[in-house]
Amino acid sequence: MRLLENRWALVSGSSRGIGREIAVGLAKRKCNVIVHGREINHTRETAQLAEACGVRVAAVAGDLGTGEGIEAILRGVAQATNQVDILYNNAAIQNSWKSVWEIPLDEWLAVFRVNLFAMIALCNALVPGMLQRGYGRIINLTSGIQDTPCLAPYSVSKAAVDKYTRDLAAELRGTNVLANYLDPGWLKTDMGGPNAEHEPATVLPGALVPALLDDNGPSGRLFAAQDFKNLD
Ligand SMILES: NC(=O)c1ccc[n+]([C@@H]2O[C@H](COP(=O)([O-])OP(=O)(O)OC[C@H]3O[C@@H](n4cnc5c(N)ncnc54)[C@H](OP(=O)(O)O)[C@@H]3O)[C@@H](O)[C@H]2O)c1
Repeated sequence: MRLLENRWALVSGSSRGIGREIAVGLAKRKCNVIVHGREINHTRETAQLAEACGVRVAAVAGDLGTGEGIEAILRGVAQATNQVDILYNNAAIQNSWKSVWEIPLDEWLAVFRVNLFAMIALCNALVPGMLQRGYGRIINLTSGIQDTPCLAPYSVSKAAVDKYTRDLAAELRGTNVLANYLDPGWLKTDMGGPNAEHEPATVLPGALVPALLDDNGPSGRLFAAQDFKNLD
């Protein structure tokens, strides 16, 4: 099994759902992990699961919808390590279900703050260190959502995530800091709901593929976690 020994990963929104699967999956590959939730007490269970894998684990908290929350997260990260090698921008929110023309602009902004602007803020803060060390893997969570205009703020924010990631990858070409976007599939999490197609565990091992890429591997690409679900 390919390991990530001596690496540190930050997984936003790893207090539950897909983020928890990813954080524990990384820890099983011997990667040190920083788990995150809006409140520190939300992160305890994931942290315990990761610690059981024998790696170093830190927990940070903060609301990605506010500047103060992002600063608190970055302060916590700096206390844990000066070396974030792998960044999963996983946390995201959906808007409330309404006809597309009835969704107030405030709600569009709230969704974009968490799903896009916070991702950009974390990349802005952590990419310079990756460039200095000549190694980085950025994985931005996207969605395959289609034809669901009642969730347009969410789905349009994810389209923006895709474009942002491709632009970031172009900027980072030749640096060994790789930026890719990951579609986890439709999963039974709090966000995906009970009628979703797949169990949360099926996001592995595919979700780890963009973190395990060889040096100067593909960047600016879409990875679909469900394509790998039968891989050991
Ligand atoms: N589930 C699916 O079917 C599906 C499909 C396609 C794409 N995705 C994407 O996969 C990612 C994870 O989804 P999920 O289903 O695991 O979601 P989830 O079960 O709703 O979990 C959301 C995570 O994000 C955190 N979070 C929510 N609002 C936040 C905020 N304002 N600031 C900081 N953290 C916040 C939550 O922390 P707390 O526990 O502290 O609230 C939690 O850890 C998202 O990017 C989502 O868009 C999911």
